[in-house]
Amino acid sequence: MKNKTFMTAIMLMCLFLVPHLAPAQFPKETEAQKTQRMQWWTDARFGMFIHWGLYALPARHEWVKNYERLTNEQYQKYFEMFNPDLFDPHEWAKMARAAGMKYVVLTAKHHEGFCLFDSKFTDYKAPNTPYGKDLIKEYVEAFRAEGLKVGFYYSLIDWHHPDYTIDRCHPLRQDSDTAYARLNKGKDMSKYREYLKNQVRELLTNYGEISIIWFDFSFPGKNGKGRDDWDSQNLIKLARSLQPGIIIDDRLDLKDVEGGWDFVSPEQVKVTKWPEYNGKRVPWETCQTFSGSWGYYRDEYTWKSPAQLLELLIESVSKGGNLLLNVGPTARGVFDYRAQDRLKSMGDWMKYNSRSIYGCTEAPADFTAPANTLLTYNPVTKRLYVHLLVYPMGRLTLENMADKIKYVQLLSDASEVKFTVGKDENKNDVNLQLPVQKPQTEIPVLEIYLK
Ligand code: GLC
Repeated sequence: MKNKTFMTAIMLMCLFLVPHLAPAQFPKETEAQKTQRMQWWTDARFGMFIHWGLYALPARHEWVKNYERLTNEQYQKYFEMFNPDLFDPHEWAKMARAAGMKYVVLTAKHHEGFCLFDSKFTDYKAPNTPYGKDLIKEYVEAFRAEGLKVGFYYSLIDWHHPDYTIDRCHPLRQDSDTAYARLNKGKDMSKYREYLKNQVRELLTNYGEISIIWFDFSFPGKNGKGRDDWDSQNLIKLARSLQPGIIIDDRLDLKDVEGGWDFVSPEQVKVTKWPEYNGKRVPWETCQTFSGSWGYYRDEYTWKSPAQLLELLIESVSKGGNLLLNVGPTARGVFDYRAQDRLKSMGDWMKYNSRSIYGCTEAPADFTAPANTLLTYNPVTKRLYVHLLVYPMGRLTLENMADKIKYVQLLSDASEVKFTVGKDENKNDVNLQLPVQKPQTEIPVLEIYLK
C-alpha cells in the first residue's frame, strides 16, 4: 500500500516535471541540414544592422529612456515628434549593397517598445506618429530589390508595454523587493508573452520571406528575465513554423537546448579564436557599431576608421565568422555623414577585394600568417588570401609554403607577384617580391593559388 502511494507520488511528480524537462519539439535537423540552411549566411560574411526608433530624436543612445530613467509620459514627446521626412529605404539599400553587405537586420521594435511596423496589437507604432506609415513594409521591399536578404531585430525587452514587469534593466528599476512588488502589482506577463507571439506572427507573416530574426535579449536571475518570461521555446517554434529557413540568434536564453539557437553573437568584441560550444566550433557573427552607440548619437565622436572597420571584417572571416555592422539613421531618416563615409570606404575596398571575404573562412592550420597579416581561405576555389595590415618593405616571407604555392597575385589588380624559394633550412620558404609602393587600396590582399 505504502509502495503504491509512493509510486503515485512519483508519477505525479513526473507529470509535473515532464513538461519542463521534455526536449523542445523543434523541427528535427541534422548538422549537415543546418549547415545547408545557413549556407547563404555563412558565405555572405557581411551584413548591415540598423537601429532606428524614437531614440533617434534625443540622439543620445538607444538606451536613453533607461539611462535617464524616463517615464512613458516623459518619453512621449518623441513619439509625437517622429516624422522622418527624408526616409528613403532605397537609398539605404543602395549604400548597403555598395558597401558589399549581403543581408540586413532592422529593429522592428527596440527596448523602448515602439514598433516601426503596423501591428494590430498596439497603438505605439509608426503609423500613429506624424509620419503615418508602416516603415517596415518600405524597408523590406527596398532591400529586397537590391538583392539583400532581409531580417528583423525584435526586442524581447519592452519598456512601454503595460504588462511588462519592471526589472533590473528597466528605466523604472528599483532598489528593494517591496518597491518592485508595489510597481508590478496588476501587471500580467502572460499577456505580454501573448503580445510577443502575436507580433512575431505578424512580422513573419505579413512581409514575405524573412531570412533572420534577431531576438534581444535575456538576462536571467534576480529581477531579470529569461526563457520562461518570454516562453522562448514556443517563440522559436512559431518562428520556424512560419519561416522554415529562418536564422535565429542566441539571445533567447536557450543555449543548452538543442535547436535553441543558430549562431552566437559576440557584441562589440574581437574574438580571439573561432568560438566554440561544448568543444565544437559554432557559426558566429559579431555585431559592431561605428562608434559606441547603436541608435543615432549626435555627440559621439569615437568613430572607427575605415581601416579599423575593414580589419574587423577581415578578422571575423579569418576566424570563421560574420560581421554585422550597425548604422543608426537620424530622425530625418538618413544615414549620418560619418556612416556614409565609412560605408563608401568599405565599398571601395570590397569592390576589388571581396573575393577574400565571400565564401571564405579560417585558413587551414598548416598555414602560418606572417606578422601583421590576416589569412582567409576559400575552401571551394582553394585560394589563400593574405591581408597586409602593415605594408611591408618590398619583401614578405611565407614560411614553409613553397611546396603548396602555384601562383601569387595582388587581388586588387590581378598583377603577378613574383617569388623566390629559400635555401638550405629555409628551402620551403617563399620570398614574395612586393611592389615598393603600397597598392592603391586600404588593405592590400595577396591572392595565392594553391597546388
Ligand atoms: C544590446 C543592447 C542593444 C543593442 C544590441 C545589439 O543588447 O541592449 O541596445 O540593440 O545590444 O546587439
